[in-house]
This record gives sequence, structure tokens and C-alpha cells, in this order.
Amino acid sequence: MKDIQSRGVQKRKKPTGTILTMDTNLMVKDQIAEALTARIKTLEKELQQRVQIETDLQELGQKYKLIFDKARDAIFIIQNDVIRFANRRARTVLGYTDEELSTTAIAELIHPKDRNLVASRHLKKLKGQKVPGTHSFRVISKTGKEIWVEHTAVRVNWEGQPATLNFVRNITKKRKLDAQLQFTARLEAIGTLAGGIAHAFNNLLMGIQGHTSLQLLDIDSKHPHYTTLKKVENAIQEGAELTQQLMGYARKGRYRSRSIAINEIIENTSRTFQKMKKEITIHRDLTQRPHAIEADQGQMEQMLLNLYINAADAMPDGGDIYLKTKNVTHRDIKSNLYEPRPGKYVMVTVSDEGLGMDKKIQHRIFDPFFTTKKSGKGTGLGLASVYGIVKSHDGYINVQSKKGRGTTFFIYLPAADKRKTKK
Ligand SMILES: Nc1ncnc2c1ncn2[C@@H]1O[C@H](COP(=O)(O)OP(=O)(O)OP(=O)(O)O)[C@@H](O)[C@H]1O
Ligand SMILES: [Mg+2]
Repeated sequence: MKDIQSRGVQKRKKPTGTILTMDTNLMVKDQIAEALTARIKTLEKELQQRVQIETDLQELGQKYKLIFDKARDAIFIIQNDVIRFANRRARTVLGYTDEELSTTAIAELIHPKDRNLVASRHLKKLKGQKVPGTHSFRVISKTGKEIWVEHTAVRVNWEGQPATLNFVRNITKKRKLDAQLQFTARLEAIGTLAGGIAHAFNNLLMGIQGHTSLQLLDIDSKHPHYTTLKKVENAIQEGAELTQQLMGYARKGRYRSRSIAINEIIENTSRTFQKMKKEITIHRDLTQRPHAIEADQGQMEQMLLNLYINAADAMPDGGDIYLKTKNVTHRDIKSNLYEPRPGKYVMVTVSDEGLGMDKKIQHRIFDPFFTTKKSGKGTGLGLASVYGIVKSHDGYINVQSKKGRGTTFFIYLPAADKRKTKK
């Protein structure tokens, strides 16, 4: 009975069971489909996110690359004493390719005189010790050019190893301008002082001169005071010449600017000088057609004479002085101290093969009253007035000298048309 019943139940339940199984299958299928759809959606979302991340990363990469490559500063990683990763600026400043940088020891890029200092700072930085944030030193480019840089470094981890991230700025031009400003400011300050003293002193001399002349008018040459008063007059004359030089330096001298023939002035002054100094031979190499220049003839003569005297003094046993004129442009004027104004110039050079000067002396030669000559021999105003004269003609002066080898003064006077356009 149980069997029948149960069979009966089974029989009766069978269709229901089949429906149930079908339903269940359908439900499972639905669930799977749902799950799949959900999964696909999640995947799609993930994919979208991933694409977005990739785009973001790419954009970020491009942004970093842009900043890295367009930076005006050189940026690079130093690891194991070589540059591991550098931006474009680093390559252009130093003139090396990436490969060359990665195989050149960093010490080789640094000026020999600055190597120890830079190396000890770098080591300290790697050890995490405190060092000044920024410091300056010289690097040497592939072509051997000396470049002043300002350097900042941060300690980083690069590919799992300690390294430094470095920022380097080229400050060569800035240093040059600073030096120029310091140099001109110093000479300007001394100039103001010297000019003031010269002016006051000149007035006193003129007073003494007036009274002496009046006294001389009253007496004849047999009078016991005559010779003394004449000596006073001579001293006044010498004093007046001194103040004249000082005023020249302070640019307070009288200037009558007109078109001058520089070659002719050089010819005349040097021939006169040659007659006075037989032990000196003067050689002239003057360009056929120098640019026209506007200048004060008297000041030009004073300038040249001061240079001849110095050259002759540097060759006490005699020797050769070389004079030269040449047409040049601002590009031919090489100086660490200033940027010459663009244009045409006449270059005048005065060279000797005398005692020469070391760098320390060269640095001070334009200071008024700087002299290395024995007391009573030189006043130290010669080159100060030369400097003043050159400056008041909008020109430039450079010196090249080596101890024991000789000296050359280069003077650049602007061509007349250039001076006109400037004013
Ligand atoms: N051609 C030169 N060769 C070597 N040293 C020079 C030369 N010209 C100038 N000097 C140096 O520069 C210094 C300054 O020169 P500067 O003409 O201003 O003064 P000075 O010649 O000593 O005196 P002063 O010209 O007033 O009589 C000189 O004392 C000398 O040391
Ligand atoms: Mg002199």
C-alpha cells in the first residue's frame, strides 16, 4: 500500500517535479545570466576604469615629460657616480648624449678645482646628513667650456637603490652681470669721491695760483723770493695735472666730441713718444679705413700716452711696443665683466713685452692711486684716467697680461653712426 501510495504520490508528483526541475533550470539559467551580465558589467566598468587609468597615466606621463624636457634647468638622477637619467636641458648644457652621460664619471664633468667640494657634499647628502640646500660650482662641457651652475639635490630611491635627484641651473651669465655690477659700482663710487676731491683741490690750487701770480707781478727775477715763487708755480702746475687726471677718471673733464682720425692721433703721439724714449721701438699696424669715431682728441692723446708710458715702464731695459687698429663688432669683444652693446667698434691695442701682471694686480689697475711703482715714481692715476676716458666715450677696455710675458690693452671705441643711433 505504501508502495502504491508512494508510487501514487510519485506518479502524481512526477509532472510537478518535472515542472519544478524545468523551473529550477530556468531560474539557474536566469541567475547565471544575471550573474554573467553583472560580471560583464563589472568587467566593462573595470575595463573602462583601466582605460581611463591608462589614459590618465599617459597624460600624466606626457605632462611629466613636458615639464622634464621643457625645464630651463638641467634635471638628472645620479647613481653610482654616473648620470642615470637626464632631461634635454642637461644634455644641451653639458653637450653629451644620454649614453655618454651614463658612462662618464660625474667627477669628470666637474671643474677640477671644485671636485673635492662637490664630492664631499654629495656623499653627505647620500648619507642623509645636512648640507646647504643650494651651492654653486663650475662644470666642464664636452667642448671644454667652463659653466657656472647652481645645484640643488634631493635624496631619492631609483630602481631600488639610493640615488640623488639633481637640479642644475646655468648661472654663468648671472655671475658675469653680478661681477660687472660690482666692478662698475666700485669704480663709480671711487669716481664720485675722486671727482669731488679733484674739484675742491683744483679750486684751492687756482686760489694759490692767483696769489702767486700777483706776487710775481710785483717783483723781478733778481728778487730773493722770485725762485721760490716760481717753484710754487711749478708745484701748482703739477698739482693741476694731477687733478686733471682725476677729473678724467671721474668723467668730469671737458669733452669736445667731434669726428677724429684715430690712426693719425696714434701716429703723431707714438712718434713724439718714440723721440723721448730711444730704447723703445714702436711698431704700428693700423687698418687702412678705420670706422669713423667721435671723440675728444685731447682725451684720446692722454689715453694713448698713459698706455705708452706704462708699456715703456714695464720694459726698463727697452723693448718693443706694438700698436694696432682694427674694425671689429661687439662679437669680437670678449669679456667676463660686461655684455658690449651691439654694433661696430674700432679696436685699438697697445702691447708690450714687459714685466706683465698677475691676476691680483690686473684686478686693481683701474683703481685711482693703485700703483706698484716706487713712491714718487707713479701716482696710480694713469689707468684710472684711461678707464674714465674710455667709459665717457661709451667704449670698453680689456687687459690681457701674463707675469713676465707682457701686456696688451684692448680699447673698443664705438663707430660714429652707432653712437648717433644710440642717442
Ligand atoms: N703695461 C703694463 N705692464 C705691466 N704693468 C702695468 C702696465 N700698465 C699698468 N701696469 C700696472 O698697473 C699699475 C697702475 O698703472 P697706472 O698707470 O694707473 O699707474 P702708474 O703707472 O703706477 O702711475 P701713473 O700712471 O699715475 O704715473 C702700475 O703701477 C703697474 O703695476
Ligand atoms: Mg701709468
